[in-house]
Amino acid sequence: MRESPAALLIGLLVLLSGCVEPPEEERISERVASEAWAADGIVGENEYSRTMVLIGPSRSGYSGGEMEISWRNDQEHLYMAMKGRTEGWISIGFEPLEWMKDADMIMGTVEGERATVLDLYSTGRYGPHEDDAFLGGTYDILEFAGSERDGYTTIELKRRLDTGDVFDEALEPGQSVSVIWAMADQDGRDLKHDVAYGEAILPLIQDQVSGTIAATLSPREEEGVLFIWEEEKVARDLYAELYRETEMAVFLDLARSEQSHMDQAKALVDKYHLVLPVGDEPGSFSNQPLIDLYDELLVQGMRSQEEALKVAAAFEEISIMDLERELEVAENEDVRVVFQGLLAGSRKHLRSYVRDLEEMGIMYAPQYISEKEFEDVVGD
Ligand code: HEM
Repeated sequence: MRESPAALLIGLLVLLSGCVEPPEEERISERVASEAWAADGIVGENEYSRTMVLIGPSRSGYSGGEMEISWRNDQEHLYMAMKGRTEGWISIGFEPLEWMKDADMIMGTVEGERATVLDLYSTGRYGPHEDDAFLGGTYDILEFAGSERDGYTTIELKRRLDTGDVFDEALEPGQSVSVIWAMADQDGRDLKHDVAYGEAILPLIQDQVSGTIAATLSPREEEGVLFIWEEEKVARDLYAELYRETEMAVFLDLARSEQSHMDQAKALVDKYHLVLPVGDEPGSFSNQPLIDLYDELLVQGMRSQEEALKVAAAFEEISIMDLERELEVAENEDVRVVFQGLLAGSRKHLRSYVRDLEEMGIMYAPQYISEKEFEDVVGD
């Protein structure tokens, strides 16, 4: 199809301005990511929930080619595959300020059987892109693998959405991430792109419950969903009582957050036509161990601000353990996504309570989760 002169002029202006072109939504295909993610250099048919094909035309200095980006995310991690038609390096950069400047880049190469994935940051408009670790940051690719077949290079990787490194973009579920991408026909990391480059918008998944997954829950999963909803309710009601007693703002904030956790679990209850064990009224529960725990922690927490923070931290530890136990048996993707989000939330809450105690000069020692896991949560 021939472009009209006006379209060509607009295209040229966009190119010269260095602006990101608006995304073409139809380039993104969606499916249910029903396969488990595995770093093996092979993009499984249902391993990712979204895919887009980015095309760079052949033009002066560029042979032209396409790169397919597939991704899925939960509340904590991003899983991504890049498959480019080249045997050289392939790369993606998140949120550049302009051109390549300040882009949080990931570059992959495969030589023989060996894949290399670099965690880079472009300090200038046209580079250089140094290793984050060289700039004083950290290497944050948690897992990766790659393969080179039939003229295509594939890289799969996993990273935290928010790595905590200043040289990485802190990504959020639901965010429309502005990305740049590029490919070269050789592996040298300092060789400029000569196959293709471009920009795109990569929409991360927001919904705790994907509208597209139709499946049923096992009796064990049903039980888990109802239990976790009630446990989040115990947290909400406990923190609301502790707020009334201590007037510490943290309890008000986290009671609100627990309400949102309950809502997330309730979305599963509704979607899978389950029946809540009790109504919403504060302090009413049906599960006896949860009732006992609530009563015990409430009595102890009413004693002082310090005790209130300690019982709340203990409750978050229990919540972490319970969610981890449920995640071990849950296979339904909806349930897993919600539970993983709630787990991330509980870890954050535990961190808040422990920090508040530290500010009072009190060191909190874990009572339920291991020392190692505790360090991992508090040091996140
Ligand atoms: C390997 C060393 C690299 C060099 C020397 C380099 C150099 C350049 C230069 C000189 C330009 C200006 C346009 C041109 O001359 O074609 C440019 C543009 C660009 N580069 Fe790179 N680059 C490198 C790596 C990367 C990587 C790893 C990415 C992707 C993550 C990337 C993405 C881009 C994009 C998208 C543009 C166009 C920006 C726009 O039009 O807004 N570059 N690069």
